[in-house]
Amino acid sequence: MEKKRILTGDRPTGKAHLGHWVGSIQNRVKLQEKFDCSFIIADLHVLTTKPQKEHVLEVRENAKQMVLDYLACGIDPSKVTIFLQSKISAVYELNLFFEMMVSLPRLTGLPSLKEMARNAHIPEESLPFGLVGYPVLQSADILLPKAHVVPVGKDNEAHVELARDVARRFNMYYGEVFPMPEVLLTETPTLVGTDNMGKMSKSAGNCIFLSDDEKTVTKRVNSMYTDPNRISADVPGTVEGNPVFIYHDLFNEDKEEVKLLKQRYEAGTVGDVEVKKALARALNDFLTPFRERRKQFEGEKGLIEQIIYEGTLKMEEIGQATLREVKSAMGISGTWNKISRIARERQEHAL
Ligand code: TRP
Repeated sequence: MEKKRILTGDRPTGKAHLGHWVGSIQNRVKLQEKFDCSFIIADLHVLTTKPQKEHVLEVRENAKQMVLDYLACGIDPSKVTIFLQSKISAVYELNLFFEMMVSLPRLTGLPSLKEMARNAHIPEESLPFGLVGYPVLQSADILLPKAHVVPVGKDNEAHVELARDVARRFNMYYGEVFPMPEVLLTETPTLVGTDNMGKMSKSAGNCIFLSDDEKTVTKRVNSMYTDPNRISADVPGTVEGNPVFIYHDLFNEDKEEVKLLKQRYEAGTVGDVEVKKALARALNDFLTPFRERRKQFEGEKGLIEQIIYEGTLKMEEIGQATLREVKSAMGISGTWNKISRIARERQEHAL
């Protein structure tokens, strides 16, 4: 039986942090065994909030760091197709067709859109057309390989829902072309930041990166927010919702230690310093294999480029096949197809 297809990915904005691991990458490492997985490096999506040249130029290095993080996490490029969105011509064309399948209020009503605009300091009255179309472009990504399952964080759930609407409407207009993509959320979709001020994110500066060294991790842990009511170690503290214990639960393998620390914390018989020391050690133990793999892959010159190159070539073929099917279903192929063929031939001739 053919494996079900998965499509997921990220905007290449830099290095991955613990929040990415908890919310998505952890899940992907498991999924690569059972599904036919493709990961998109969504560089076109970066343009929706950062179209300026300096940001475009950052994408290349960020994409490399992102793929390195994937490999460091245990993503196996022989099992997963990792590809660069901007090099897939079918994405641009599908995006245009899909723009006809969605109403404007459906897009502007999305809370995720407002949040992205807010984070990018874009006032509501000057929303770029392309940012409003963000979820439509994402639908093109998802439907390009006719994905069945889309593993994403909670913040992207509505976008997968929109991709379903697009697929449904397309199929209604032109016949069954796309399967309905299903969203797949991880158990702990968002991770609170070290400052307890909402989720871990680069813009908030409350991250621990997967590639941070031991010293940095220890420093970040030592400055973490805990229970503010605890002015000294003998005051009983709150474990529930305390980021230090949330991290202990997620990353400390020594469950007995966590249990005891919690009991002592609630009884007022352990200081924050000891709790944080144990957390820094646990996190560093957790991150050691990531660091080792990262170092190994970093040492292999040209490896990352080769992985992106091969994955993108593969997806370009898949995308063209989908696009042919789409155009034929829409009835805009046929006679005019020879124009593209002749144009391509002329271009090749000119080279
Ligand atoms: N929107 C995702 C993000 O928040 C990135 C993304 C782009 C994506 N295209 C996708 C995720 C397709 C899953 C599937 O960064």
